[in-house]
Formats: sequence, structure tokens, C-alpha cells
Amino acid sequence: MTSTIVVGGFFGDEGKGKIISYLAIKDNPKIIVRGGAGPNAGHTIRDGEKIYKVRMLPSGFLNKNAKVMIGPGVVINPDVLFKEIQDFGATGRAFVDKHCGIIEQEHLSRDSKGKLKEKIGSTGSGTGPANSDRALRVLKMAKDVNSLSSLIVDVPGEVNSTIASKENVLIEGTQGTFLSLWHGTYPFVTSKDVTASGICADIGLGPKNVDEVIVVFKAYVTRVGTGPLSNELSLEEAETKGWSEFGTVTGRQRRAAEFDFDLARRAIMLNSATQISITKLDIIFPACKGKTSFEEIPEEAKTFVKNIEEKLNTPVTIIGTGPEIQDVIDRRN
Ligand code: IMP
Ligand code: MG
Repeated sequence: MTSTIVVGGFFGDEGKGKIISYLAIKDNPKIIVRGGAGPNAGHTIRDGEKIYKVRMLPSGFLNKNAKVMIGPGVVINPDVLFKEIQDFGATGRAFVDKHCGIIEQEHLSRDSKGKLKEKIGSTGSGTGPANSDRALRVLKMAKDVNSLSSLIVDVPGEVNSTIASKENVLIEGTQGTFLSLWHGTYPFVTSKDVTASGICADIGLGPKNVDEVIVVFKAYVTRVGTGPLSNELSLEEAETKGWSEFGTVTGRQRRAAEFDFDLARRAIMLNSATQISITKLDIIFPACKGKTSFEEIPEEAKTFVKNIEEKLNTPVTIIGTGPEIQDVIDRRN
């Protein structure tokens, strides 16, 4: 297997960052490449004592042998990018495509007020306004920014030639299926399609060149910002269950609900999932915490996982059992 794409199955914040970091180390891909909207995404990765909050770089950066790339479909904020390259030790192995769009101050201002902020609950990262300027064909691109010149490579070219030479490429999605501009709960969505097909388009990978599509679901559903959330719990209920979380980018409290099979079934369809990853199983079944083998987890947790496999007719291959990168049950062969 050479190309694996990982996307979110609900509303983002499914824990993709941690799953991607695990795969980045375990499968040792040559390239880890990110599609998706822009620095509105936030992944939290915990490696021992270290906690990384990543918005711009691919979250697989912890594998120092891999090149990390950002596909042409993504808009980038050069300040955020340079800071992360520096802070996370990715100097010399982080690259962007010449067609990545550029977020400027004016996009940040437009994103921090008015309808986008108040009605949609946007992250204020400038991502939506930059993507709208790109649709109007007035957005600056990476090739127009001097400071980025040393980071520019042909990302689609690199990705496709690596796959053609049978080496592993890991493709990261951002946000989640129901934040997709096409398939989500419009207008309460992000400014791009973020399903697997959209992410592939972002990096220039054709539909025949993807081997595995892993859709990540958290063991419960959360949503940050506005928009519908079926069977939403009260904040008190969510706190009691330990499901109340705070956003990586915005610090806002996330709304929560139980695992939603209707949404999950649709996410499997929209992404043509070949595998499912379930994260935070330990939050629902604390006895799972830190476990790395399926045999070790309690019967009720096994039943929870098997029920998901049966109802969604897709194997659950990777299970998150704690915040650390190695807190994973890997059931792939
Ligand atoms: P925008 O993408 O910043 O315009 O935000 C649009 C909607 O998507 C808001 O409800 C955000 O909270 C949500 N959103 C955007 N990116 C993410 C993400 O990475 N995780 C979770 N929610 C997100
Ligand atoms: Mg997030």
C-alpha cells in the first residue's frame, strides 16, 4: 500500500492529528502532505511531555525522515507557517506548492467580524476570505511571495512520482466531512470541500491513485462554532461525561453529542472509506486507557467497536486509547 488518506468523519476535531502522527511514525512515509482549507484547522499532538498545537504544517512532522508538504489547494499564512517550521523543527524538509494561496492581514480582518464571525462562528484565521478571493482570482499565491521561494516545490509532481516508485505517501485532510462546503451543513461549513476527493484535488492526486481511505470518527461527536448538531447534550451533561473539550485554534468550548450512526454512514459513503479509525475510546471506557491490543480492552468496549464495524460495514483498524501518539490499537495486518 503506498497512498493513504486520512479525513475527518464528523465536524473536525476527531483526533486526526494524533492518528496521523502515529501513522507518520509507524508507516514511515516518504512524504506527508496536507490538503484542506487553511490555518483554520487545529491539531493537538502529544509526544511524551511535549504538546504541539499545529495549524499549518502537516501533523506528521514528528517523523524527521519525512518531507512535509502543503498542496496547492490550501491557503497559507506565511507567519504561522514559518513559526511552526521553526518551533517544530521542520527546517529544510517543509515545502509548499507555488499555487498555495496567501492569507494577508486584510483576510484576517474580514474573518474576524460581521456575518462570518457572528453567524457562522468562523475561526478568524482568514481562511474563508482568502478562499473567496481565490475564487475571484485576486488572491496572491506562494510564487508571488519572496520569503517563500526556498520552500517551493512541485507538490503534485513529488507526490505522484513518489507513489509511482511504490513509496509511501500519507495524505492529511483537515476539518471534517460535515464542514464540507459541498456536503456539510451549509451555511455552517468551512470554505472548501474537505471530503477525501476534495483533499486529493488539493494536492493534485487523481482518484485512481489512492489505496486506503481512513475516516476518523471520535467515539462521540463534537462541534465547535454554530450550526446543527443532532441530539446535542447540554454543557452540563457533556461535562459529566467528560466530553467537553476546548478548540485548538479558538479556545471555544465544543458542543457534544453521542456517536451518530446516520452521519457516520454518510461519511463512509462520501469518502469511500476503506477503514475506520475511532479515537478517544478511553473517554467512553476508561479501562481502555493506554491499551495497545484489542484483546486487552473490556468486553463492552469491544462490543462498541464491533457494533460500529457491523453497522457501517467497514473495518475499524486504528483505535485511539489516549492522548499520546503510541496510545493506539493498530488492527491492520
Ligand atoms: P472557518 O473555516 O474558519 O470559516 O469556520 C467555519 C466553521 O467551521 C466554524 O463553525 C468553525 O468553527 C468550523 N471549523 C473550521 N475549521 C475547523 C476545524 O479544523 N475543526 C473544527 N471546526 C472547524
Ligand atoms: Mg481541531
